[in-house]
Amino acid sequence: MSSVELHEKIPNNVHLSSDQRLKRALEEWQPHFLAWWREMGPDRFQEDAIYLRTAVSVDASGWAHFDYVRMPEYRWGIFLAEPVPDRRIGFGNDFGKPVWQEVPGEHRNTLRRLIVTQGDTEPASVEQQRRLGATCPSLYDLRNLFQVNVEEGRHLWAMVYLLHTYFGRDGREEARGLLERRSGNPDKPRILGAFNEPIDDWLSFFMFTTFTDRDGKYQLLALAESGFDPLSRTCRFMLTEEAHHMFVGESGMSRIVERTAECLRAGTEPRSAGALDLATIQKYLNSWYSLSLDLFGSEVSTNAAQFFGAGLKGRPREEERYEDHLALEGGYEMDVYEARKPIALRSAMNEVLRDAYVEDCQKALGRWNKRLVGTGAELVLPSRRFHRGQGMFAGHFFDPAGHELTEEEFARRRDQWLPSEADRAYVRSLMAHPVLEPGHFASWIAPPPRGVNGQPIDFRYVRYNEQ
Ligand SMILES: [Fe+2]
Ligand SMILES: [Fe+2]
Repeated sequence: MSSVELHEKIPNNVHLSSDQRLKRALEEWQPHFLAWWREMGPDRFQEDAIYLRTAVSVDASGWAHFDYVRMPEYRWGIFLAEPVPDRRIGFGNDFGKPVWQEVPGEHRNTLRRLIVTQGDTEPASVEQQRRLGATCPSLYDLRNLFQVNVEEGRHLWAMVYLLHTYFGRDGREEARGLLERRSGNPDKPRILGAFNEPIDDWLSFFMFTTFTDRDGKYQLLALAESGFDPLSRTCRFMLTEEAHHMFVGESGMSRIVERTAECLRAGTEPRSAGALDLATIQKYLNSWYSLSLDLFGSEVSTNAAQFFGAGLKGRPREEERYEDHLALEGGYEMDVYEARKPIALRSAMNEVLRDAYVEDCQKALGRWNKRLVGTGAELVLPSRRFHRGQGMFAGHFFDPAGHELTEEEFARRRDQWLPSEADRAYVRSLMAHPVLEPGHFASWIAPPPRGVNGQPIDFRYVRYNEQ
C-alpha cells in the first residue's frame, strides 16, 4: 500500500515528499491553478460552504470524505490506484512484456499528446459549466454541479502530475498550456470540439454529463489499459470519480423525463406546466450525442492503430473481453458509408471504442424510457451518421434515421432535429432563476429519490450566503 500524504500542500499518495524537485515544480503550478479556478471556475458561490466529497485515498472501502468546504479551499490531490504486482503489457507489439514505469523514448511524443488531450478536457468542462449556478434547479443539483467541477479540477491535477513527473521541460510547458487555453475562445480554444460548445442551461449540462462524460469514461478505460503504468494507475482511479459524473447526468435527465411523463399522463402539455416537452429533450439529446460521438475520432484511423500497436491505448477491459491481444489479423465490421464491411482490426480501434460507448448510451436511454411507460412516447439515439463533424460522415447530411439528404434539405429541416433558437429561448426562460430554498425543486425536474451520502433531500447542500 502506498502511504497517503494528506496534510502536505498537495495531498497525494505518490510520495511527493521524497522528490523535492518535483514537489517544488507542482507547488509552483498550484497558485496558477488556483488563479485559473478563481477566474474560470464557478461564477458564483465561491465563498459559500458546499457539501462536497474529497478523495483522501484510493481504498475501495472508503476513499471519499464528505464535508462542507469553500471551493477555492478544496483539497485537490494526486491519487493513483495501487500498482498491480508484475503487471504486463496487455496488447500490441510488446504484449506480455513488463509495463513501463518510465516513458519509452520512442513513444514519448505520442504519450504526451494523449495525456495533454485528455488533460485539456478537464478544465474545459469546468469553463463550459461556470455560469450554471445562476439557474440551478435546487441546492441538491447545485451541489452536484460543483462536485463534478472540483473533480474535473482534480483530473487536471492527475494529468499535470504525469506531465511534470515524466516529461521534463516540455511537460511543464504543456501543464501551463492547460491553464491558458479557454473553452470556446477562437484565439486559444480547447483541443476537442465538444469542449468548446457552450453549456449554458441545465438541459445541456445533464446531456453533457450523460454523453460527454461517458466518452470520458471510455477514453479512461482505454488509457487504463496502457503499458505506461503511471497513466494506467491514474486513469483507474479517475474512473471511480467519473462514475458519479455520469450518475449526475443520467439521473438528472431521468428526473426531467419523469416530470415530462407526469404531464403527459395527466394530459397536460408539458410546456404549459413549466416542464420540458419531449421534442425539445430529443433535440438536445441529438446534439450532445452526435458531438460526443465525434470525440472518438475517425472510424478508420492509422493513429488509433499506432496507439494500439505501441501498447499505449487499448480496448476497454482488454484481458477479460478479448482473446487475440495482437489484433493483427481479421477485420472489424463497420458501417463505411456505402456499405458494411470489415476494416483491418487495428485501424478500427476508434470504432471498437465507439461501439462500446453506443451500447452503453443505449442502456441509459432504456432507463429514461422506463419513465415514459404509458405515455406512448420514447426517446431514441439518432443514427451515428447524423450531424457528424469528424470521420467519414462529416461533410455529408443525414436525417436522425441515417438517410442521406442534400445540404439544402438538411438546412430546411434542421430545426426539427436540433435545438432551434426558439427552443433555446424556451429552455432559458424556464431556467431564468435559481431555486435556492432547501428541498425545493424547479418545475421542470422531479426531486431525486434520495439525497447525497445519506443526507435528506432538503439538506442544506450549499450554505448559500451564510457567514
Ligand atoms: Fe474528468
Ligand atoms: Fe467527468
